[in-house]
Amino acid sequence: PLPTVRTVKDLRAVVSGWKRAGQKVALVPTMGALHEGHLSLVALARRHADHVVASVFVNPTQFGPNEDFARYPRTETRDAELLAGADCDLLFAPGVEEMYAPGFSTTVTVSGVSEPLDGAARPGHFAGVATVVSKLLIQAAPDVAVFGEKDYQQLQVIRRLVRDLDLPVEIVGAPTARAEDGLALSSRNAYLSQEERQIAPRLHQALAEAARRLREGDSIERVEATGRAALERAGFAPIDYFEVRDAETLARLEEGSSRDKRILAAAFLGKTRLIDNLGV
Ligand code: PAJ
Repeated sequence: PLPTVRTVKDLRAVVSGWKRAGQKVALVPTMGALHEGHLSLVALARRHADHVVASVFVNPTQFGPNEDFARYPRTETRDAELLAGADCDLLFAPGVEEMYAPGFSTTVTVSGVSEPLDGAARPGHFAGVATVVSKLLIQAAPDVAVFGEKDYQQLQVIRRLVRDLDLPVEIVGAPTARAEDGLALSSRNAYLSQEERQIAPRLHQALAEAARRLREGDSIERVEATGRAALERAGFAPIDYFEVRDAETLARLEEGSSRDKRILAAAFLGKTRLIDNLGV
């Protein structure tokens, strides 16, 4: 079985032992309900370090009052088995009281890159993410931490906060793991009905079509309008956004800008909110 620690003290004891031995440590933060996407992060972490620590913590502060915190899937036994099979060395699975002691009153907010898109659709979400990720990076003190491009805005928020706070860690982005039909793997896919699951890959298809059009010189405005229309036709409602943005800052772009671009989308299928993105 996978060695598991539940306190910051025990986590630090294990990691500092490795570091004293001159070994490199990678951290893969997760909220559990693990799937192949998470395991691909563990595999990538393995290539960057001698030891891989995964954390499983369903972070209450990044869920809005009407979001799925209470019903978010919790599958720790299976998660530990999957991590052990993926050659992870240590699981850090703290309880809420370990992460948020009574009187906890500090928040990390990243302005700019946190504000548009999911930041606008989910007020407070990225402050919750930035705070818990700051804590995890300080607690585990890894040399490398791996995050998925699936949550592209989250990855850019974390890159910004690590630079701004001089956290001594290298952030590695991992490509999005997808099902055969293109749907990005996500713990929330478990909420989809059979019929919704058939429609869901149209999100990736709309992004791929948008990337192709942009590369062929179509305007940002037309590409966004076409993408939204494709999602509407497929049955997504409401569509939170379908936008072409600056790949680093996620700011809006002038038509014809030579900056690296990312196309990002979020939309509901029934009660389930799906997000995905692609580079151009
Ligand atoms: P969670 O949604 O569990 O995701 C954990 C990590 O797995 C994130 O870095 C996410 O981008 C990555 N991931 C999820 N699906 C993926 C896929 N299909 N392909 C590649 N990577 C994928 O993201 C969070 O948890 C939380 O916000 C967290 C960073 C742990 C802070 O609470």
